[in-house]
Amino acid sequence: MRVLGIETSCDETGIAVFDDEQGLLSHALYSQVKLHADYGGVVPELASRDHVRKIVPLIKQALKEANSSVDDIDGIAFTKGPGLIGALLVGACVGRSLAYSWDKPAIGVHHMEGHLLAPMLEDDAPEFPFLALLVSGGHSMLVKVDGIGQYEVLGESVDDAAGEAFDKTAKLMGLDYPGGPRLAKLASKGVEAGYKFPRPMTDKPGLNFSFSGLKTFTANTIAAEPDDEQTRANIARAFEEAVVDTLAIKCKRALKLTGYNRLVVAGGVSANSRLRENLAEMMQQLNGEVFYPRGEFCTDNGAMIAYAGLQRLKAGQTEDLEVKGQPRWPL
Ligand code: KG4
Ligand code: ZN
Repeated sequence: MRVLGIETSCDETGIAVFDDEQGLLSHALYSQVKLHADYGGVVPELASRDHVRKIVPLIKQALKEANSSVDDIDGIAFTKGPGLIGALLVGACVGRSLAYSWDKPAIGVHHMEGHLLAPMLEDDAPEFPFLALLVSGGHSMLVKVDGIGQYEVLGESVDDAAGEAFDKTAKLMGLDYPGGPRLAKLASKGVEAGYKFPRPMTDKPGLNFSFSGLKTFTANTIAAEPDDEQTRANIARAFEEAVVDTLAIKCKRALKLTGYNRLVVAGGVSANSRLRENLAEMMQQLNGEVFYPRGEFCTDNGAMIAYAGLQRLKAGQTEDLEVKGQPRWPL
């Protein structure tokens, strides 16, 4: 069985072909980062227009690289939500139109299910059940995963997502969009300087997150300190440590609650090396294992959508061909 996957929920056009016997046959990605950089963030209207420009050439490229003709494709999976409505509609329209004209089933995939299954594309894929920490620009959540479609959200952010906190904090440090990786780079030049950043919501029970206070704390720290490069790097480091530590504390708590010893970390922030180091150490101490997607599949991509779509297709779940997007959609 072979599925074409289409991801257009935000600022990346990702297309891939996944085969359940041969694995990932191709993946093509176009990032709009340069387009949005001048504006300091994603401009939804520009994002939709750029998806329109790139989607068909990328589909052709992915099919060619997968050595697949239309006849070899058993279904078309597209990201149905959550995300930017205009951007989602591009993928939904193209996905459903191809399904209609090729007479194949269409499969609407939840973007966060795509992220949480992304480590399944690796050779050392985790077995079910596991705990998933999903940390992206739009979401931070802890999910108990017992199988395909068997998800229980144990906790999520009550305000900014982890990636959003990175991006907003980077912006107030004067760093360009996309701020997360830039802030992480600056933090790597920082040293421990005695800043006492809070670990939000760790002193009371529960698995929810809150990151917006850390952004304010950073703003106040910057205002109180000298304006030089090393001080900025030290503050960036303290901010990053606070986010990473908070995520690790909540993961440990959720692992204890579920009794699971496998942790999956996915979404854009899972590319963060400090987070990876911290969680690797923690899982070693807990005698457990931690799994990540490869670097390029931490952020948005078509491969995770093709994979998730194939699992849904195998379970007999397909979509009608009515064209609609779902900008808000709980997991
Ligand atoms: O999963 P993703 O590509 O898009 C969403 O679904 O939101 O995640 C993008 C987010 C951005 O907020 C970006 O700043 C963050 O992931 N990010 C990072 C790093 N790389 C990407 N945050 C911290 N450290 C990184 N190395
Ligand atoms: Zn994403």
